[in-house]
Amino acid sequence: MKIPAPLCRKLETAARRAVKASYSPYSNFPVGAAVLADSGRIYTGTNVENASYGLCNCAERTAIFTAAAAGERAIKAVAVFTPTAEPTSPCGACRQVINEFGPEALVISVCQGSRRIETTLDQLLPDAFGPRNLPRRRKA
Ligand code: THU
Repeated sequence: MKIPAPLCRKLETAARRAVKASYSPYSNFPVGAAVLADSGRIYTGTNVENASYGLCNCAERTAIFTAAAAGERAIKAVAVFTPTAEPTSPCGACRQVINEFGPEALVISVCQGSRRIETTLDQLLPDAFGPRNLPRRRKA
């Protein structure tokens, strides 16, 4: 899906701002994310770590869960920002969670350097397992 360039820039800026609230004392790897929902609203998130390491939550999932909890059910695009020299692509778990609401979402990764990755969820997670594989799911 084509998203106007100014809206992409707005989403990237939101991800860059979101990183400031990252709680990442264990990895020292702050991540900011922003999600553009079908409604046109933008939701942001950061990674939130825990002393019990396995409970760390990625920035993308924080943003998507925030959008879902606000009632959103479809995602058009996700932007990820890391203050690194190279852009960071969403981890496998986040790809699966993005797939739930945006199987064809645009996924943009930006960083401090000039390099960026612009791709789509179906390219990052081909032949994904998702809601369509569960014929009797409830409409929630
Ligand atoms: N992290 C994210 O927030 N998003 C990703 O896509 C990759 C990893 C976080 C999880 C953890 O807090 C830190 O980065 C290091 O793995």
